[in-house]
This record gives sequence, structure tokens and C-alpha cells, in this order.
Amino acid sequence: MLSEKLKEETKQNHQILEKALVGNLKSIRNKDGYINLLKMFYGYFGGLEKSIEQHVDSNLLPDNDERRKIAFIANDIEALGGQVPAKAEGNDLPRIETHLEALGALYVIEGSTLGGKIISKMMEQQLGLNGIGLSFFSGYGDRTEEMWNIFKEKMDAQAENPEQEAVIIAAANETFLKFGDWFNKQQAAA
Ligand code: HEM
Repeated sequence: MLSEKLKEETKQNHQILEKALVGNLKSIRNKDGYINLLKMFYGYFGGLEKSIEQHVDSNLLPDNDERRKIAFIANDIEALGGQVPAKAEGNDLPRIETHLEALGALYVIEGSTLGGKIISKMMEQQLGLNGIGLSFFSGYGDRTEEMWNIFKEKMDAQAENPEQEAVIIAAANETFLKFGDWFNKQQAAA
């Protein structure tokens, strides 16, 4: 099954990104630090979303409109008093020119709802946000696992052969790698 292969073949890149992020999360001590984290996610996922929506719609993913969108991060940033930054573009993003490449990138975005729950818990504990600014990282709340399973099922049905699977897997890995580059770039600029 494609989703099982994806998990296996992106494992290493997930671990590298998770490690870098957790180190950063632990060092966040105030609201401004958290706003910077949200801005970093907004820039990258915002750029990705723009490319993905050119190839994925509700024909391909029936509950697409119900899914967590980048506007959630913009709302969180504003709720905390920050300013919404520009979105990533060009070489900062993976190549997304087909629905298969878009699905690889969407796998990374949708999968991030699983780790997002951990991030929102950490931020709530460290900063006492009283629920403000946490809509993005809360994912789909109690429905997160269910939404993840539905996504995987729809994605699996799109890959018709090993060649198409390979395109999705390569796009997912590139999406993880470019996220790491984006994260480092934002850290250096801060
Ligand atoms: C603090 C940072 C993070 C932590 C602690 C974390 C943790 C996790 C955990 C616990 C899972 C579930 C594993 C399972 O149930 O099998 C998961 C899955 C996943 N995470 Fe993360 N994550 C983090 C950041 C991210 C980010 C930033 C992304 C995307 C850019 C991401 C993408 C994914 C994907 C795609 C999966 C699904 C793997 C699969 O089952 O196919 N994660 N993560």
C-alpha cells in the first residue's frame, strides 16, 4: 500500500525535521517566540497550499473543503497580535506540477496534524495560551486520526502503479527536505 511505503520512505526526513523542531519548541518562552514559529509554518505551508490547490479539488479529495487550511495559521497569528508574513515561493518550494506531486506534498501537510497535537500541548503548557492561537496545531481535534485515515485511503486510491507511487514518495520527501531548508533559513534570519 502506498501509505505504508510513504511512512517508511519518509521516516528519516520526518525524524530530522521533528528533532530540529522539538529543539526549537523547547526554547520558546514567550508569545513572540510562538508567533515566529507560526510565521515559519505559514510561509512554507502557505506557499505549498497555493500550488496544491491548482491540482487537488473535491473531485480528487471529497472532503477537501472541510480540511484544515492555511487561513487557520493566519487567524492564530492575528489572534496573538502578530502580522501575517509573505508566503514561500519559487525554489523555496518543492516542484508541484501534477496531482501526484500535489498529493505527496499534501501527505506531509495532513500528516503534520498528528505531530501538531504534541506541538499545541507543548505550547499550551509552556506559555499558558488559554486556547488562543492554537487552531492550526490542534488539527482536527478528536477527529484527527479519522481524518488522517480518510486522507490515506483517498491518496492510496490515486496511485495506479509503482511509477506513480514513486512520484508521490519523491514529492513527499522533497517537501520534508525543503521544509528543513526553510526552517534553517528563517532561524538564521531571526
Ligand atoms: C514537534 C514536531 C513533530 C512531532 C513531535 C511529530 C510527531 C509525529 C507523530 C507522533 C506522528 C504519528 C506517528 C504514528 O502514529 O505512527 C507523526 C506522523 C507524521 N508527521 Fe509528524 N511530528 C512533528 C512534526 C511534523 C511536521 C512539521 C510535519 C510536516 C512538515 C510532520 C509530518 C508528519 C507526517 C506526514 C506523519 C505521518 C506518517 C505516516 O504515518 O505516514 N510532522 N508525527
